[in-house]
Amino acid sequence: MSTLLRLALTKGRLESDMRQLLAAAGVDISPLLDTGRRLIHRLPDAGIEVVLAKAPDVITYIEHGVCELGVVGKDTILELGSSFYEVLDLGFGACRFALAAREGDDFFGSTRHRRVASKYPKVTAAYFAGRGMDAEIIKIEGSVELAPILGLADAIVDIVETGATLSANGLAPIEDICPISARLIVNVAAMKMKKAAVQDFVALCRRRLEGEGCP
Ligand code: PRP
Repeated sequence: MSTLLRLALTKGRLESDMRQLLAAAGVDISPLLDTGRRLIHRLPDAGIEVVLAKAPDVITYIEHGVCELGVVGKDTILELGSSFYEVLDLGFGACRFALAAREGDDFFGSTRHRRVASKYPKVTAAYFAGRGMDAEIIKIEGSVELAPILGLADAIVDIVETGATLSANGLAPIEDICPISARLIVNVAAMKMKKAAVQDFVALCRRRLEGEGCP
């Protein structure tokens, strides 16, 4: 077996969806089933070594070339960077960016200064710039639904999947911004220098996605 490629995999839900995709493609994923506190796991069948990382760090590892492949959400890609190739929409992790406010609020009807909280200030700024509207953007690290409830912001830009978190907190979507799903990304140099191995792994994922749908 030639040198294993390193795949930086976003910990959490994308990790388990990717595990399912690999298993369905016939890869022995047993090293990934009881990971304990270990962060690197070899999957020789797939020609990869899986590095478990937080989403923003997946991008850092790919951009610095210490991992050749990455699995990360389009949300993180839109917010943080694009100095890599985005080669495949993996289909799983499907959700959307949406603007949301307290139920019944007329966010666009109001003429007052608008404050919008988000974990994704770049995405939020681009959205309001695209609408030709001014908004003060307040960066929040998580549980952003709290911001309108506490009176910090008039609205939020956040990931919505089922809508349950919004509705449990008295909020409602106002407008969808764009769809999101997990993407396979590739380091720019690796695409050239390790082309055959990269192509083999991309083909393995693609065969699974095209042949039998998403896991
Ligand atoms: C995400 C997102 C929403 C929730 C949406 O939060 O920020 O809070 O999921 O999912 P739903 O529409 O199915 O309810 P996450 O669990 O990642 O935590 P965070 O808010 O701390 O980022």
